[in-house]
Amino acid sequence: MEHNESGGTGCPAGQTYLLDNAGKEASARFAALAAIFDPGTIRHLEERGLTSGWHCLEVGGGGGSIAAWLAARVGSTGRVLVTDIDPRFLESLQVTNLEVRRHNIVNDALPEAAFDLVHSRLVLLHLPERERALARMVAALKPGGWLVDEEFDSSIDLVSSANPGEVYSKTYVAMARTMDSRGVDRRFGRRLFGRLRAHGFVDVAAEGRTFMWHSGSPGVSLLRSNYEQLRSAMIDAGYITEREFNEDLAGLDDPGFMMPSPILWTVWGRRP
Ligand SMILES: C[S@@+](CC[C@H](N)C(=O)[O-])C[C@H]1O[C@@H](n2cnc3c(N)ncnc32)[C@H](O)[C@@H]1O
Repeated sequence: MEHNESGGTGCPAGQTYLLDNAGKEASARFAALAAIFDPGTIRHLEERGLTSGWHCLEVGGGGGSIAAWLAARVGSTGRVLVTDIDPRFLESLQVTNLEVRRHNIVNDALPEAAFDLVHSRLVLLHLPERERALARMVAALKPGGWLVDEEFDSSIDLVSSANPGEVYSKTYVAMARTMDSRGVDRRFGRRLFGRLRAHGFVDVAAEGRTFMWHSGSPGVSLLRSNYEQLRSAMIDAGYITEREFNEDLAGLDDPGFMMPSPILWTVWGRRP
């Protein structure tokens, strides 16, 4: 099921991205993603040897924090192309060595064998046509270039609590069901290692990061923005009632709230 173009859900190819950047929740989402994950992402990119003069591609750049960091790191002799299907948050990045492009990684062409590094985070898992998108990212790399892709595995979440007060709320479960019904692969992070091997990559390795999300943390801010944006979809599908949604949203502010995050898998390898 995991490698066909519909994600095995019957979801039609080209189905719109669920957490559309036009939503009023998007800026809070990007601030939270940057606060939680940028330090680890930057460490991984530095460990790949990223330095002045590299040509880099950032796919689905979202709020732009990693694209801006890449542009500073590669300096005036390097170049960064950052793409997004909706680049509204990238347009304010006014840096001479950074190009912002409205681009759909599933359907739109990219230069081939052009980049020393291709990075993406939390994009492919959302796309029913993720295999086509991954193949395009692979083809964009120079021989020897690094692919670094970071995706969630949120499938192991729904196990029993290890702490009193640790909850997977009804809204969290409803969000997972909504994503499943729209062709999101919530295990893609764990599959990535195998996918890079299948593409013939060398020096393939992977690391997972997970956090305890608690009230007042950026993790809870990420949950809130996702819950609010998917509110109607979850209620209209009958996965949750309005009352349950409101209770769970209020529960995020409970000082006792805690929930282990999904695992963010960072997987890297070089194109032979
Ligand atoms: C969950 S956000 C992650 C943003 C950023 N990579 C990060 O980790 O902070 C997913 C991003 O992918 C973009 N996106 C969704 N579908 C896309 C597609 N087919 N091609 C390019 N970008 C896409 C969205 O617009 C959004 O900015």
